[in-house]
Amino acid sequence: MHIAKLHPHFAAEVTGLTLTTNLPDAVIEALKDALEEYAVIVIRDQQALTDDVQIEFCKRFGALQRSITVHREDTARRLKRDELSDISNVDEKGERMSADDKRRLLQKPARLWHSDNSFRSPPGLYTFLAAKIVPPEGGNTEFADMRAAYDALDDRMRRRIAGLQVRHSLGWSREQAGAPPLSESEKANIPESVQPLVRFHPKSGRTSLYLSSHGRDVLGMSDPEGRALLAELTAFATRPEFVYSHKWREGDLVIWDNRDTMHRATPFPEDRYRRDMRRTSVEDDQVAIAG
Ligand SMILES: [Fe+2]
Repeated sequence: MHIAKLHPHFAAEVTGLTLTTNLPDAVIEALKDALEEYAVIVIRDQQALTDDVQIEFCKRFGALQRSITVHREDTARRLKRDELSDISNVDEKGERMSADDKRRLLQKPARLWHSDNSFRSPPGLYTFLAAKIVPPEGGNTEFADMRAAYDALDDRMRRRIAGLQVRHSLGWSREQAGAPPLSESEKANIPESVQPLVRFHPKSGRTSLYLSSHGRDVLGMSDPEGRALLAELTAFATRPEFVYSHKWREGDLVIWDNRDTMHRATPFPEDRYRRDMRRTSVEDDQVAIAG
């Protein structure tokens, strides 16, 4: 296994590794260490990875989260296992969905900078995204390093945000992205969450900004004040020097730490090309707040 850094602050490429269901513990620990250091790791050449192996591999990193798509009765599901989220523009027959297909519209919030599942409690820890079919142009995923962004904040801002808490809501990000609103089942099953704005990681000793487009308001602030603060921090934290833009190759499995990064999808010609990507995630049962 070989690890090579991809960006001055974070992100690394892993080669020489084939993912199976019986990897030695030492390999899993090495990958966890790489995630601690780089926050985003790109494991290349996993064309043979099946959905079942992806799920079993993912379990080695924590408790799996069920996909929120299980709470939509009004859309068909191509992937039948509850642990898989379908990040694709293809239907059950493998054909491109039309532009007005609700399943495509529901992916619109992914174009906004976010941390996966920040609206859930517990929130997302690691996301695993496997690329089966990628378009030949466009469709990069951009990642922003929330630790480097925190490190670059001035003392005045660090003091201002210390101890603040943010309410996160999937309905809010859907609204901001112009996506369909929550269904009745989603409303009943996906409550809002409250998360710290600043997080401390005991193992690495680093601190990160915990931002996400799901973040709706800051507790104890008026809506305009809280939203202006979140917008200012997001603009700062996603400046080009903090961003790694990942150009996907078929067979990539990218794993990222949602505590330390935000990400967003970028457009590609969806009516010309197919994209098939499959996501699993594990939950974060230890949300640490910077003191
Ligand atoms: Fe995402």
